[in-house]
Amino acid sequence: LSGSTAYITLPSVVVAGPPGAGKTAFITRLERRDPKPATTYTSQTNNVVELAINEDGTSKYSDDLDASGAVAKKFLMVDTPGHGKLRGATLARLASASSTAETKLRAIVYMVDSAALAEDGGIAAAASYLYEILLALQKRMSAGKSSKAPSAIPVLVAANKADLFTALPAALIKTQLEAELGRIRTSRSKGLLSSGVGADDVDSANENDDWLGEYGSKSFNFAQMREFDTEVAVIAGNVVGDDASGPGLDKWWRWIADKM
Ligand code: GTP
Ligand code: MG
Repeated sequence: LSGSTAYITLPSVVVAGPPGAGKTAFITRLERRDPKPATTYTSQTNNVVELAINEDGTSKYSDDLDASGAVAKKFLMVDTPGHGKLRGATLARLASASSTAETKLRAIVYMVDSAALAEDGGIAAAASYLYEILLALQKRMSAGKSSKAPSAIPVLVAANKADLFTALPAALIKTQLEAELGRIRTSRSKGLLSSGVGADDVDSANENDDWLGEYGSKSFNFAQMREFDTEVAVIAGNVVGDDASGPGLDKWWRWIADKM
């Protein structure tokens, strides 16, 4: 991937999230401009597709801009593997975007399976990876030593599979993720205190390094990420199924088009 020059020159969106969320199905549908569900397999590597929106950002994902001869803004969408052992590369990519103020990374789509979130451990699994991503973005903004602030990288929590009747609604997903992220933050700070490192040994610049959001606040909410110039939106949708079975993916597409 790092050898791809196109990846470096065009603006890009990274799609991340737990396994089975529908990331590959989503990116395949956008690439083919076809609502027919694609057969997907557990991803082991990144998969990059080139997409386009028209100049004023109003085109639909299903519009064929080449055929219509419209002037298009091109961008890349990067599908990443959700498996826990394969997340390192995705997080490293966010970290490397942190060393440069000018990054082509314009947005992150964090996709979750809204029905799996209703199951035991579903929220915890979705929140732990999201914590890593938000923390990487937060560090990126607070590490900036140059006078020029790094460009903001907003996050869309795409609550997928809204077509399933067991899917949790987006508003509930938002509050449950916030609560779980808050729990992770608390347990991490306790881990630091009980690790035997005395308070004096901790570098003051690093001691709140793993604390997500407003330092010392009792509970976490996504609005706290604004302090680090990171906007988080939670929007429901579905990749599979016709538009009658759920909200579809138009709202996600609009959100993405808006960031390009
Ligand atoms: P990893 O590659 O393991 O990280 O998973 P992934 O996020 O790429 O998931 P993938 O796209 O392979 O989708 C997993 C399964 O979810 C597939 O069987 C998809 O058909 C299904 N799926 C994706 N989107 C939807 C949706 O909106 N509704 C329903 N009902 N199923 C969906
Ligand atoms: Mg996949």
